[in-house]
Amino acid sequence: MSGTLVAQGYLCRAEEVAEGAARGFALTGRRHKVIVLRKGGRLYGWLDACPHYDGGTPMAWKSDAYLNGAGTHLACHSHGAHFDMTTGVCTLGPCLGQALTRVELHVTTAGEVFAAI
Ligand code: FES
Repeated sequence: MSGTLVAQGYLCRAEEVAEGAARGFALTGRRHKVIVLRKGGRLYGWLDACPHYDGGTPMAWKSDAYLNGAGTHLACHSHGAHFDMTTGVCTLGPCLGQALTRVELHVTTAGEVFAAI
């Protein structure tokens, strides 16, 4: 699974995702959560669906536990894949070279984060 997902829906307020952190937000009617991650002051959106297995396995082992121990990569806790935070490319693990699905984000002037139309 790779590419860009275009969806719409409210996810969170921008300040709910701290620098270097990642949080998951559900969208009504969708199987997978959207991971919102902040790195270098910029927000990134990724589908919470590891490309390694079963059409997209949820990656966190508990709520919002999306990063590896060092906080340097998104991590899938099923089989240990690591993904670059800003490109979504798998850099370690069984799906090496595959990538997470990007979710385009739209942040309103009021600081509300939506999965973009
Ligand atoms: S399901 Fe993610 S590494 Fe296997």
